[in-house]
Amino acid sequence: MHVPVMVGECLEYLAVRPDGIYLDATAGLGGHTAAIAARLSTGLVIANDRDAESLEIAKRNTAQWADRIRYHHGSFSELHSALTAFGIERVAGLLADLGVSRYQLTEPERGFSLMAEGPLDMRMDRRRGNTADELVNFSPEKELADLIYRFGEERRSRKISRAIVRARPIHTTERLARVIEEAVPRTSQLHPATQTFMALRMAVNDEQGELDQLLSIAPELVNSGGRIVIISFMSLEDRKVKQSLQALARSGRAVTLTKHVVRPAQEETRDNPPSRSAKLRAVEMRQ
Ligand SMILES: C[S@@+](CC[C@H](N)C(=O)[O-])C[C@H]1O[C@@H](n2cnc3c(N)ncnc32)[C@H](O)[C@@H]1O
Repeated sequence: MHVPVMVGECLEYLAVRPDGIYLDATAGLGGHTAAIAARLSTGLVIANDRDAESLEIAKRNTAQWADRIRYHHGSFSELHSALTAFGIERVAGLLADLGVSRYQLTEPERGFSLMAEGPLDMRMDRRRGNTADELVNFSPEKELADLIYRFGEERRSRKISRAIVRARPIHTTERLARVIEEAVPRTSQLHPATQTFMALRMAVNDEQGELDQLLSIAPELVNSGGRIVIISFMSLEDRKVKQSLQALARSGRAVTLTKHVVRPAQEETRDNPPSRSAKLRAVEMRQ
């Protein structure tokens, strides 16, 4: 069973009540959904994800509590319909655990991983949008460099972009990783293509735009007294989350529950190293 990040902290900040209705905006493999569902009696969790394959895995992983869970396939911009589809107007708590899941990262076929040979896809929602292949093979060199710099915070973006353009066409993860490795030397333990892969993933899935959508919609979906809990893994995301939740608190619409960002306990980062970059922030809605 997949181990969700900061699960105890999520339950605490969501203040899960047995009769409450909760929205897990990023169900992934169902880890947090299961933890919430296990606490419910008459309550309900809406388990949403834009990745249909992940949602199928979540269904299997949460089968034990299926009567308390409703699954919804959609992106953040479709969260209103995730509720109205089940006749719900607002929830007692909304959880978003941003980024990609272990499944997405490790399934070669999805094309997210530079460690496994696969097609350059990287779409979380395979129903729509351009693939990483299209971005890599058809973007002008400068555009490619800009997105690698902006989303990947990669200082060698121009060099990488030039090498990619020269090596086109590139259709697989392994080849892209190799082209980048040959263009820029390894300067740390990280593979030199790590930040470029992250940048492409963020661009393909419009992750920044989606996060903006989530942050603007979330307050409308949560009851007065209800909670919004967001976990992010990248500084770009955490900055947005922090500013948006602070603005909500300043306007009097919410009260900040996490004066300082909450990080996973040492024990968790030891047992689950990818959790080490997780940052949790939470507010309680007032109106
Ligand atoms: C870190 S994983 C969540 C893991 C999950 N909490 C668990 O315990 O299994 C992030 C999930 O969010 C989904 N996701 C990312 N951006 C999304 C968006 N804009 N709309 C809906 N789902 C999104 C991804 O498809 C992925 O499954």
